[in-house]
Amino acid sequence: MWPLAAALLLGSCCCGSAQLLFNNVNSIEFTSCNETVVIPCIVRNVEAQSTEEMFVKWKLNKSYIFIYDGNKNSSTTDQNFTSAKISVTDLLNGIASLKMDKRDAMVGNYTCEVTELSREGKTVIELKNRTAFNTDQGSACSYEEEKGGCKLVSWFSPNEKILIVIFPILAILLFWGKFGILTLKYKSSHTNKRIILLLVAGLVLTVIVVVGAILLIPGEKPVKNASGLGLIVISTGILILLQYNVFMTAFGMTSFTIAILITQVLGYVLALVGLCLCIMACEPVHGPLLISGLGIIALAELLGLVYMKFVASNQRTIQPPRNR
Ligand SMILES: *[C@@H]1O[C@H](CO)[C@@H](O)[C@H](O)[C@H]1NC(C)=O
Ligand SMILES: *[C@@H]1O[C@H](CO)[C@@H](O)[C@H](O)[C@H]1NC(C)=O
Ligand SMILES: *[C@@H]1O[C@H](CO)[C@@H](O)[C@H](O)[C@H]1NC(C)=O
Ligand SMILES: *[C@@H]1O[C@H](CO)[C@@H](O)[C@H](O)[C@H]1NC(C)=O
Ligand SMILES: *[C@@H]1O[C@H](CO)[C@@H](O)[C@H](O)[C@H]1NC(C)=O
Ligand SMILES: *[C@@H]1O[C@H](CO)[C@@H](O)[C@H](O)[C@H]1NC(C)=O
Repeated sequence: MWPLAAALLLGSCCCGSAQLLFNNVNSIEFTSCNETVVIPCIVRNVEAQSTEEMFVKWKLNKSYIFIYDGNKNSSTTDQNFTSAKISVTDLLNGIASLKMDKRDAMVGNYTCEVTELSREGKTVIELKNRTAFNTDQGSACSYEEEKGGCKLVSWFSPNEKILIVIFPILAILLFWGKFGILTLKYKSSHTNKRIILLLVAGLVLTVIVVVGAILLIPGEKPVKNASGLGLIVISTGILILLQYNVFMTAFGMTSFTIAILITQVLGYVLALVGLCLCIMACEPVHGPLLISGLGIIALAELLGLVYMKFVASNQRTIQPPRNR
């Protein structure tokens, strides 16, 4: 008795009923980069053999903005949504997504209603304007300010911003470590001038990166954040010159130091390319490129420090002849 009732209940819930099932999408965002806006509406269990059996209606808030009548094979749009359309050929695959030009896109809750013979169903998707809403991901910025800057920085999440700052700061700390070894182990009258130059350049770089971090991290001021990013990425090039000079002052070039410097140059190139792509592109895909470039710069700095420590400790045991 009970199993039967349960089976009937189950059957009417999931299989036997006249319900169309949808892929659940609660909301979708668009940005200044979307030329067309697509509001997804995917039916998972379409059985119709012909679009003549199908009927699609799209509603924004309470009023219908688009109707496709499969029987007549005709679409009707609201006068405020003249660019709205669906792809009739995709309907039998369950795709009733609404496409429209951005100029017609309005934020709000869109309802997709699909009827297929006696079966029907609907789903609600909220269309959001990313610039206006998504403030919690560090992507908010006001378009009254410069557009390029807005696009640029809005694509970095807070975590990415932190990595962009951490790697250069780490690299600078490692530089100061090498500088320490240099002053302790290699100080002599003819290196003094170079050490002072390194000290000044290192201090300047430290200040630039700290200022850049202060501009980049807090708030959502596009122009400010973008200049912070530019300052940080471009100034990390100074690290290469510093590292070169540290090596030259200490023990000159070896194949190992050349390899380290080449690695660092490659990291810098990667970071610069990532920066350019970030400025030009709409998508966040180039953030990782920029960040890995900065990571490689820091890694080269670490290798430099380890190598210097290694050479310095070797030299100490070898240099004094009296030990033998
Ligand atoms: C806007 O463009 C992005 C990336 O191309 C895409 O993932 C997103 O779905 C688009 N938004 C809408 C509403 O079409
Ligand atoms: C519906 O009309 C479009 C052109 O408006 C045509 O390409 C398509 O083949 C028609 N579909 C059917 C099922 O008649
Ligand atoms: C079109 O939009 C305007 C302004 O948003 C509104 O006043 C008007 O009623 C809309 N027209 C229709 C047919 O919805
Ligand atoms: C739909 O409703 C939202 C929230 O009430 C409102 O911001 C939006 O302007 C409405 N859109 C239309 C076209 O009425
Ligand atoms: C859309 O509906 C959701 C859930 O009902 C609601 O939280 C949200 O405010 C609505 N958005 C608009 C623009 O009306
Ligand atoms: C999205 O938001 C921006 C800035 O808040 C505004 O200029 C733009 O008109 C909005 N777009 C739509 C379609 O609401």
